Amino acid sequence: MKSTPNTMPKLASRHDTAYLDFVEGFREYILGKGANFEDRLNANLLAAEEEQGFPLDDLEKIKALVWAQPLGRLHGRLARTQQEMKWHALQRSFESQRSVLSAELAYWDSRGPGTLELDSSFQYPPYVNVHFHLQPKGYYKDELSGFFYHYGTKVFFRGDNDQDELHEKLVSRVPLPKDSKVNKILDLACSIGQSTTAFHRLYPKAEIIGIDYSAPMLRVAHRRAAILGDKVDFKQRLVEQTRFPDAQFDITFAFIVFHELPLRIIHDTVREAARVTRKGGIFAVFDFTGTAGKSPFQLYHRWFDARHNGEPYSQDFCDCHLQDILTRYGFHVAAAPDGQRSGGAGYLQHWFATRV
Ligand SMILES: C[S@@+](CC[C@H](N)C(=O)[O-])C[C@H]1O[C@@H](n2cnc3c(N)ncnc32)[C@H](O)[C@@H]1O
Repeated sequence: MKSTPNTMPKLASRHDTAYLDFVEGFREYILGKGANFEDRLNANLLAAEEEQGFPLDDLEKIKALVWAQPLGRLHGRLARTQQEMKWHALQRSFESQRSVLSAELAYWDSRGPGTLELDSSFQYPPYVNVHFHLQPKGYYKDELSGFFYHYGTKVFFRGDNDQDELHEKLVSRVPLPKDSKVNKILDLACSIGQSTTAFHRLYPKAEIIGIDYSAPMLRVAHRRAAILGDKVDFKQRLVEQTRFPDAQFDITFAFIVFHELPLRIIHDTVREAARVTRKGGIFAVFDFTGTAGKSPFQLYHRWFDARHNGEPYSQDFCDCHLQDILTRYGFHVAAAPDGQRSGGAGYLQHWFATRV
């Protein structure tokens, strides 16, 4: 059997690999059942709720209760530190081989089978000037940002992104349009193109295009797809202004980008997706679950992530009602039988919208 080529950026030494394996396990321990912070802190918060006799939904009060406990302060410190450990290790490892990695990107830029279209006059809008999840220099200010992102998300997803597992799972869940026609697919904010290539595997005859504003992400996406032999095209464009003609796409897809957009850009992006998705086509969105109906700890965690993990727009996204926004711009969203949970990680939700 033909093995899949490994497209994960190489680290400089076995020490770096071992260190990042440790951080991945450490992250699992903090976020999972090992340290079990969620259940332990939530139990304390629910006890406070019982004492006060009404639901604990005041964020200021929840924060004060969490930070008053040593356990809450420890959780915050460890959650922040494991992110910093990851990025520092990647910085060390990539810096020591910067010229090799840079040459690697240049080698693949002009090789196929797919294409890479970068826009030399591209203007980055001011709202993207953020170090999302503390990534050094953010998504576009370092030539190696795509490599940082790829290895960073390997650690982040703790076993679900060693070989595109999560992207393949999510893409396979996207429903077909009613007429089953899938000739053209748009992957919005594709970053390093893992869903773009997963779509190609699923629909090998379709034209698949991934767009992103970040040139460094797109160069890594193109290199990755070329190594895999997947014929997909990448273009440097904004999700809210894609510059494609109307009604082009049978499937438009967006994985975890909406929570990184200011609310007004969320509206612009849904409007744009409605413009480029053909009637009967599907707009599939996977993103963070909303805050409605969440436990006190989950409300706290959402705030913590926004404030201490470089997610300045995520609170507004989680508080908004994306289904209403989708409906407003011309989509019909079927109520998901599983309560709109993705079925995968509990922090993700999906919206499968049909263009009417
Ligand atoms: C969390 S990542 C999205 C993940 C990506 N869909 C994946 O499968 O890995 C955010 C990506 O969205 C891109 N992005 C954010 N806002 C954008 C916008 N307005 N237009 C185009 N790309 C955008 C960023 O450059 C980054 O690559």
